[in-house]
Amino acid sequence: MTDRIVLRRPDDWHAHLRDGDMLATVAPFTARQFARAIVMPNLVPPVTTAEAAHAYAARIRKAAGPGFEPLMTCYLTDASDPDAIERGYKEGAWVAAKLYPAHATTNSAHGVTDVGKIAPVLERMQRIGMKFLVHGEVTDKHVDIFDREAAFIDRTLARLVRDFPGLKIVFEHITTKEAADFVAAAPANVAATITPHHLMIDRNAIFEGGIRPHLYCLPIAKRSHHRTALRKAAVSGSPKFFLGTDTAPHAVHAKEAACGCAGIFNAPVALEAYARVFDEENALEKLEGFASLFGPAFYGLPPNEARIALVRANATAPERVPGPAGDIVTYLGGQALGWRIEAA
Ligand code: DOR
Ligand code: ZN
Repeated sequence: MTDRIVLRRPDDWHAHLRDGDMLATVAPFTARQFARAIVMPNLVPPVTTAEAAHAYAARIRKAAGPGFEPLMTCYLTDASDPDAIERGYKEGAWVAAKLYPAHATTNSAHGVTDVGKIAPVLERMQRIGMKFLVHGEVTDKHVDIFDREAAFIDRTLARLVRDFPGLKIVFEHITTKEAADFVAAAPANVAATITPHHLMIDRNAIFEGGIRPHLYCLPIAKRSHHRTALRKAAVSGSPKFFLGTDTAPHAVHAKEAACGCAGIFNAPVALEAYARVFDEENALEKLEGFASLFGPAFYGLPPNEARIALVRANATAPERVPGPAGDIVTYLGGQALGWRIEAA
Protein backbone atom coordinates (compact mmCIF):
# COMPACT_ATOMS: atom_id res chain seq x y z
CA MET A 1 0.00 0.00 0.00
CA THR A 2 1.32 3.43 -0.93
CA ASP A 3 1.35 5.74 2.09
CA ARG A 4 3.06 8.77 0.61
CA ILE A 5 3.04 10.17 -2.89
CA VAL A 6 4.88 13.18 -4.22
CA LEU A 7 3.31 15.31 -6.93
CA ARG A 8 4.12 18.47 -8.72
CA ARG A 9 2.09 21.18 -7.01
CA PRO A 10 -1.41 21.03 -8.54
CA ASP A 11 -3.63 23.79 -9.93
CA ASP A 12 -7.40 24.23 -9.73
CA TRP A 13 -8.83 24.73 -13.21
CA HIS A 14 -12.24 25.90 -11.91
CA ALA A 15 -12.80 27.89 -8.71
CA HIS A 16 -15.25 30.46 -7.35
CA LEU A 17 -13.26 32.77 -5.08
CA ARG A 18 -16.02 35.39 -4.59
CA ASP A 19 -15.14 38.93 -3.54
CA GLY A 20 -14.76 41.25 -0.57
CA ASP A 21 -14.73 39.66 2.90
CA MET A 22 -15.80 36.30 1.47
CA LEU A 23 -12.76 36.34 -0.84
CA ALA A 24 -10.51 37.06 2.15
CA THR A 25 -12.02 34.06 3.96
CA VAL A 26 -11.90 31.48 1.17
CA ALA A 27 -8.90 32.35 -1.03
CA PRO A 28 -6.28 31.08 1.47
CA PHE A 29 -7.88 27.61 1.35
CA THR A 30 -7.45 27.41 -2.42
CA ALA A 31 -3.94 28.90 -2.23
CA ARG A 32 -2.92 26.32 0.39
CA GLN A 33 -3.66 23.49 -2.02
CA PHE A 34 -3.05 24.97 -5.46
CA ALA A 35 -0.45 27.17 -7.16
CA ARG A 36 -2.87 28.62 -9.71
CA ALA A 37 -6.61 28.68 -10.22
CA ILE A 38 -8.89 29.50 -13.08
CA VAL A 39 -11.16 32.04 -11.40
CA MET A 40 -14.82 32.12 -12.32
CA PRO A 41 -16.19 35.55 -13.23
CA ASN A 42 -19.76 35.22 -11.88
CA LEU A 43 -19.53 38.10 -9.42
CA VAL A 44 -22.21 40.74 -8.98
CA PRO A 45 -21.74 42.51 -11.36
CA PRO A 46 -19.97 39.89 -13.50
CA VAL A 47 -16.38 40.34 -14.71
CA THR A 48 -16.96 41.47 -18.29
CA THR A 49 -14.19 44.02 -18.82
CA ALA A 50 -10.39 43.82 -18.77
CA GLU A 51 -10.30 46.58 -16.15
CA ALA A 52 -12.59 44.59 -13.85
CA ALA A 53 -10.50 41.45 -14.36
CA HIS A 54 -7.22 43.25 -13.53
CA ALA A 55 -8.73 44.79 -10.41
CA TYR A 56 -10.25 41.47 -9.30
CA ALA A 57 -6.91 39.68 -9.85
CA ALA A 58 -5.21 42.25 -7.62
CA ARG A 59 -7.78 41.69 -4.86
CA ILE A 60 -7.28 37.92 -5.15
CA ARG A 61 -3.49 38.23 -4.90
CA LYS A 62 -3.88 40.30 -1.77
CA ALA A 63 -6.31 37.83 -0.19
CA ALA A 64 -4.41 34.67 -1.18
CA GLY A 65 -0.93 35.87 -0.31
CA PRO A 66 2.35 35.34 -2.15
CA GLY A 67 2.93 32.34 -4.39
CA PHE A 68 -0.59 32.06 -5.76
CA GLU A 69 -1.47 33.04 -9.29
CA PRO A 70 -5.07 33.74 -10.28
CA LEU A 71 -5.84 33.00 -13.93
CA MET A 72 -8.73 35.23 -14.84
CA THR A 73 -11.75 34.63 -17.04
CA CYS A 74 -14.14 36.89 -18.89
CA TYR A 75 -17.89 36.44 -18.39
CA LEU A 76 -19.53 36.25 -21.83
CA THR A 77 -22.79 38.09 -22.51
CA ASP A 78 -24.87 38.59 -25.64
CA ALA A 79 -23.06 41.92 -26.01
CA SER A 80 -19.46 40.65 -25.72
CA ASP A 81 -17.23 42.35 -28.27
CA PRO A 82 -14.54 40.29 -30.08
CA ASP A 83 -12.09 43.21 -30.15
CA ALA A 84 -12.40 43.85 -26.43
CA ILE A 85 -12.03 40.14 -25.66
CA GLU A 86 -8.90 39.92 -27.79
CA ARG A 87 -7.45 43.06 -26.25
CA GLY A 88 -7.97 41.68 -22.74
CA TYR A 89 -6.34 38.40 -23.76
CA LYS A 90 -3.33 40.08 -25.32
CA GLU A 91 -2.75 42.36 -22.34
CA GLY A 92 -3.03 39.45 -19.88
CA ALA A 93 -6.30 40.46 -18.25
CA TRP A 94 -7.69 36.96 -18.81
CA VAL A 95 -6.76 33.59 -20.28
CA ALA A 96 -10.24 32.29 -21.06
CA ALA A 97 -13.89 33.27 -21.43
CA LYS A 98 -16.79 31.56 -19.71
CA LEU A 99 -20.15 30.69 -21.18
CA TYR A 100 -22.98 30.71 -18.70
CA PRO A 101 -26.23 30.01 -20.51
CA ALA A 102 -28.51 32.76 -19.13
CA HIS A 103 -30.15 31.65 -15.86
CA ALA A 104 -28.36 28.29 -15.75
CA THR A 105 -26.88 28.87 -12.29
CA THR A 106 -25.70 31.35 -9.61
CA ASN A 107 -25.28 34.89 -11.00
CA SER A 108 -25.85 33.85 -14.58
CA ALA A 109 -28.68 36.29 -15.34
CA HIS A 110 -26.38 38.27 -17.63
CA GLY A 111 -25.26 35.11 -19.43
CA VAL A 112 -25.69 34.21 -23.07
CA THR A 113 -29.28 33.73 -24.28
CA ASP A 114 -28.30 32.06 -27.55
CA VAL A 115 -24.81 30.88 -28.52
CA GLY A 116 -25.45 32.11 -32.06
CA LYS A 117 -25.05 35.61 -30.62
CA ILE A 118 -21.45 34.98 -29.57
CA ALA A 119 -20.33 33.33 -32.84
CA PRO A 120 -18.06 36.28 -33.76
CA VAL A 121 -16.46 36.09 -30.30
CA LEU A 122 -15.87 32.34 -30.64
CA GLU A 123 -14.44 32.87 -34.11
CA ARG A 124 -11.95 35.34 -32.65
CA MET A 125 -11.09 33.16 -29.65
CA GLN A 126 -10.44 30.28 -32.00
CA ARG A 127 -8.06 32.46 -34.01
CA ILE A 128 -6.06 33.76 -31.04
CA GLY A 129 -6.02 30.51 -29.03
CA MET A 130 -8.12 31.79 -26.13
CA LYS A 131 -9.84 29.02 -24.14
CA PHE A 132 -13.63 28.71 -24.08
CA LEU A 133 -15.05 27.41 -20.79
CA VAL A 134 -18.55 26.04 -20.85
CA HIS A 135 -21.20 25.57 -18.20
CA GLY A 136 -22.93 22.81 -20.11
CA GLU A 137 -26.58 22.74 -19.16
CA VAL A 138 -29.67 23.72 -21.12
CA THR A 139 -31.88 26.21 -19.34
CA ASP A 140 -35.14 24.91 -20.78
CA LYS A 141 -37.29 24.31 -17.70
CA HIS A 142 -39.15 21.59 -19.57
CA VAL A 143 -36.02 19.47 -19.59
CA ASP A 144 -35.62 17.42 -16.42
CA ILE A 145 -32.84 18.83 -14.21
CA PHE A 146 -30.99 15.50 -14.36
CA ASP A 147 -31.03 15.56 -18.17
CA ARG A 148 -29.90 19.14 -18.74
CA GLU A 149 -26.23 18.33 -19.30
CA ALA A 150 -26.88 15.53 -21.79
CA ALA A 151 -29.41 17.76 -23.60
CA PHE A 152 -26.80 20.53 -23.82
CA ILE A 153 -24.41 18.18 -25.63
CA ASP A 154 -27.08 17.30 -28.18
CA ARG A 155 -28.54 20.76 -28.66
CA THR A 156 -25.45 22.96 -28.41
CA LEU A 157 -22.03 21.52 -27.65
CA ALA A 158 -21.81 18.99 -30.49
CA ARG A 159 -22.55 21.79 -32.94
CA LEU A 160 -20.01 24.18 -31.37
CA VAL A 161 -17.30 21.52 -31.58
CA ARG A 162 -18.17 20.99 -35.25
CA ASP A 163 -18.43 24.68 -36.15
CA PHE A 164 -15.26 25.79 -34.34
CA PRO A 165 -12.81 22.93 -34.93
CA GLY A 166 -9.81 24.92 -33.69
CA LEU A 167 -11.43 26.35 -30.56
CA LYS A 168 -10.01 25.05 -27.28
CA ILE A 169 -13.06 24.11 -25.24
CA VAL A 170 -13.26 23.01 -21.61
CA PHE A 171 -16.54 21.31 -20.76
CA GLU A 172 -16.61 22.32 -17.10
CA HIS A 173 -17.54 20.13 -14.12
CA ILE A 174 -18.93 17.21 -16.11
CA THR A 175 -21.44 15.04 -14.29
CA THR A 176 -22.63 12.40 -16.77
CA LYS A 177 -21.45 9.38 -18.70
CA GLU A 178 -22.69 11.17 -21.82
CA ALA A 179 -20.31 14.05 -21.16
CA ALA A 180 -17.35 11.77 -20.38
CA ASP A 181 -18.00 9.77 -23.56
CA PHE A 182 -18.46 12.92 -25.64
CA VAL A 183 -15.17 14.43 -24.48
CA ALA A 184 -13.26 11.16 -24.85
CA ALA A 185 -14.47 10.85 -28.46
CA ALA A 186 -13.93 14.53 -29.36
CA PRO A 187 -10.75 15.90 -30.93
CA ALA A 188 -7.83 16.98 -28.73
CA ASN A 189 -9.04 20.59 -28.52
CA VAL A 190 -11.92 19.48 -26.26
CA ALA A 191 -11.27 18.70 -22.58
CA ALA A 192 -13.24 18.53 -19.32
CA THR A 193 -12.80 19.28 -15.64
CA ILE A 194 -14.17 16.98 -12.95
CA THR A 195 -14.96 17.99 -9.35
CA PRO A 196 -14.15 15.91 -6.27
CA HIS A 197 -17.79 15.77 -5.22
CA HIS A 198 -19.02 14.45 -8.56
CA LEU A 199 -16.45 11.66 -8.23
CA MET A 200 -17.80 10.78 -4.78
CA ILE A 201 -21.55 11.36 -4.53
CA ASP A 202 -24.54 10.38 -6.60
CA ARG A 203 -27.99 11.95 -6.44
CA ASN A 204 -29.09 9.67 -3.60
CA ALA A 205 -26.61 11.43 -1.33
CA ILE A 206 -28.58 14.70 -1.70
CA PHE A 207 -31.63 13.03 -0.14
CA GLU A 208 -30.08 10.63 2.36
CA GLY A 209 -32.35 10.66 5.42
CA GLY A 210 -33.64 14.14 4.50
CA ILE A 211 -32.62 16.94 2.19
CA ARG A 212 -28.91 17.78 2.27
CA PRO A 213 -28.52 21.34 1.00
CA HIS A 214 -24.74 21.26 1.31
CA LEU A 215 -24.59 18.61 -1.40
CA TYR A 216 -26.68 20.68 -3.81
CA CYS A 217 -24.70 22.12 -6.68
CA LEU A 218 -25.14 22.69 -10.40
CA PRO A 219 -24.89 20.66 -12.46
CA ILE A 220 -26.60 18.46 -9.87
CA ALA A 221 -25.14 15.04 -9.03
CA LYS A 222 -26.63 12.29 -11.18
CA ARG A 223 -27.34 8.55 -10.90
CA SER A 224 -24.63 6.24 -9.63
CA HIS A 225 -23.56 4.90 -13.03
CA HIS A 226 -22.60 8.43 -14.08
CA ARG A 227 -20.28 8.73 -11.09
CA THR A 228 -18.73 5.43 -12.13
CA ALA A 229 -18.11 6.80 -15.64
CA LEU A 230 -16.56 10.00 -14.23
CA ARG A 231 -14.23 7.98 -12.00
CA LYS A 232 -13.18 5.92 -14.98
CA ALA A 233 -12.45 9.05 -17.01
CA ALA A 234 -10.51 10.71 -14.17
CA VAL A 235 -8.18 7.75 -13.63
CA SER A 236 -7.92 6.86 -17.33
CA GLY A 237 -4.70 8.77 -17.84
CA SER A 238 -6.30 10.68 -20.71
CA PRO A 239 -5.02 14.28 -20.80
CA LYS A 240 -8.54 15.42 -21.70
CA PHE A 241 -9.72 15.09 -18.09
CA PHE A 242 -8.24 17.24 -15.36
CA LEU A 243 -8.84 18.73 -11.95
CA GLY A 244 -11.35 21.53 -11.40
CA THR A 245 -12.87 21.68 -7.94
CA ASP A 246 -15.77 24.07 -8.61
CA THR A 247 -15.39 25.16 -5.00
CA ALA A 248 -18.40 27.45 -4.57
CA PRO A 249 -18.82 28.83 -1.05
CA HIS A 250 -22.10 30.23 0.25
CA ALA A 251 -22.89 31.28 3.82
CA VAL A 252 -24.83 28.65 5.75
CA HIS A 253 -28.05 30.72 5.78
CA ALA A 254 -28.00 30.91 1.97
CA LYS A 255 -27.71 27.11 1.72
CA GLU A 256 -30.10 26.12 4.52
CA ALA A 257 -33.04 28.07 3.14
CA ALA A 258 -36.42 27.60 1.49
CA CYS A 259 -34.67 28.30 -1.81
CA GLY A 260 -31.05 27.42 -1.14
CA CYS A 261 -28.08 28.35 -3.34
CA ALA A 262 -26.20 25.82 -5.46
CA GLY A 263 -22.55 25.28 -4.65
CA ILE A 264 -20.24 23.08 -2.57
CA PHE A 265 -17.34 24.55 -0.61
CA ASN A 266 -14.60 21.97 -1.06
CA ALA A 267 -11.44 24.13 -1.13
CA PRO A 268 -10.28 23.04 2.37
CA VAL A 269 -10.31 19.34 1.42
CA ALA A 270 -10.29 19.07 -2.37
CA LEU A 271 -6.93 17.46 -2.98
CA GLU A 272 -7.36 14.98 -0.13
CA ALA A 273 -10.76 14.06 -1.59
CA TYR A 274 -9.29 13.45 -5.05
CA ALA A 275 -6.52 11.35 -3.44
CA ARG A 276 -9.15 9.25 -1.69
CA VAL A 277 -10.93 8.59 -4.99
CA PHE A 278 -7.76 7.71 -6.89
CA ASP A 279 -6.71 5.45 -4.00
CA GLU A 280 -10.09 3.69 -4.02
CA GLU A 281 -9.64 3.18 -7.76
CA ASN A 282 -6.11 1.78 -7.19
CA ALA A 283 -4.82 4.54 -9.43
CA LEU A 284 -2.75 6.82 -7.20
CA GLU A 285 -0.05 6.83 -9.86
CA LYS A 286 -2.51 8.59 -12.17
CA LEU A 287 -3.22 11.45 -9.77
CA GLU A 288 -0.28 13.65 -10.79
CA GLY A 289 -1.35 13.74 -14.44
CA PHE A 290 -4.92 14.64 -13.52
CA ALA A 291 -4.03 17.17 -10.82
CA SER A 292 -0.79 18.73 -11.98
CA LEU A 293 0.08 18.01 -15.63
CA PHE A 294 -2.91 17.77 -17.98
CA GLY A 295 -4.44 21.15 -17.04
CA PRO A 296 -1.26 23.14 -17.69
CA ALA A 297 -0.70 21.21 -20.93
CA PHE A 298 -4.18 22.08 -22.17
CA TYR A 299 -3.80 25.73 -21.22
CA GLY A 300 -0.32 25.89 -22.78
CA LEU A 301 1.36 26.69 -19.46
CA PRO A 302 4.34 25.01 -17.78
CA PRO A 303 3.57 22.64 -14.92
CA ASN A 304 4.59 23.87 -11.46
CA GLU A 305 8.14 23.13 -10.34
CA ALA A 306 7.36 22.86 -6.63
CA ARG A 307 6.35 19.48 -5.20
CA ILE A 308 3.89 18.50 -2.49
CA ALA A 309 3.43 15.21 -0.73
CA LEU A 310 0.16 13.48 0.10
CA VAL A 311 0.54 11.31 3.16
CA ARG A 312 -1.91 8.71 4.43
CA ALA A 313 -3.12 10.10 7.78
CA ASN A 314 -5.96 10.26 10.27
CA ALA A 315 -6.95 13.75 9.20
CA THR A 316 -10.51 15.04 9.66
CA ALA A 317 -12.15 17.70 7.50
CA PRO A 318 -13.21 20.89 9.32
CA GLU A 319 -17.01 21.07 9.71
CA ARG A 320 -17.27 24.78 9.13
CA VAL A 321 -15.19 27.81 8.37
CA PRO A 322 -16.25 31.13 9.93
CA GLY A 323 -17.16 33.58 7.16
CA PRO A 324 -18.20 37.22 6.99
CA ALA A 325 -21.92 36.44 6.76
CA GLY A 326 -21.98 33.35 8.94
CA ASP A 327 -20.23 30.02 8.77
CA ILE A 328 -19.50 28.21 5.51
CA VAL A 329 -20.12 24.48 5.73
CA THR A 330 -17.22 22.42 4.36
CA TYR A 331 -17.62 19.47 2.01
CA LEU A 332 -16.89 16.23 3.93
CA GLY A 333 -16.95 18.27 7.18
CA GLY A 334 -16.26 16.10 10.21
CA GLN A 335 -15.42 13.07 8.07
CA ALA A 336 -12.14 11.20 7.95
CA LEU A 337 -10.09 12.36 4.95
CA GLY A 338 -7.48 9.62 4.93
CA TRP A 339 -4.80 11.95 3.53
CA ARG A 340 -2.86 14.99 4.60
CA ILE A 341 -0.86 17.44 2.45
CA GLU A 342 2.78 18.13 3.29
CA ALA A 343 5.44 20.23 1.66
CA ALA A 344 7.82 17.93 -0.21
O1 DOR B 1 -23.18 24.85 -7.85
C1 DOR B 1 -22.75 25.83 -8.47
N1 DOR B 1 -22.37 26.94 -7.82
N2 DOR B 1 -22.71 25.79 -9.80
C2 DOR B 1 -22.39 26.87 -10.53
O2 DOR B 1 -22.37 26.77 -11.72
C3 DOR B 1 -22.13 28.17 -9.87
C4 DOR B 1 -21.69 27.99 -8.51
C5 DOR B 1 -21.71 29.26 -7.69
O3 DOR B 1 -21.24 30.29 -8.16
O4 DOR B 1 -22.20 29.22 -6.54
ZN1 ZN C 1 -18.46 26.70 -11.17
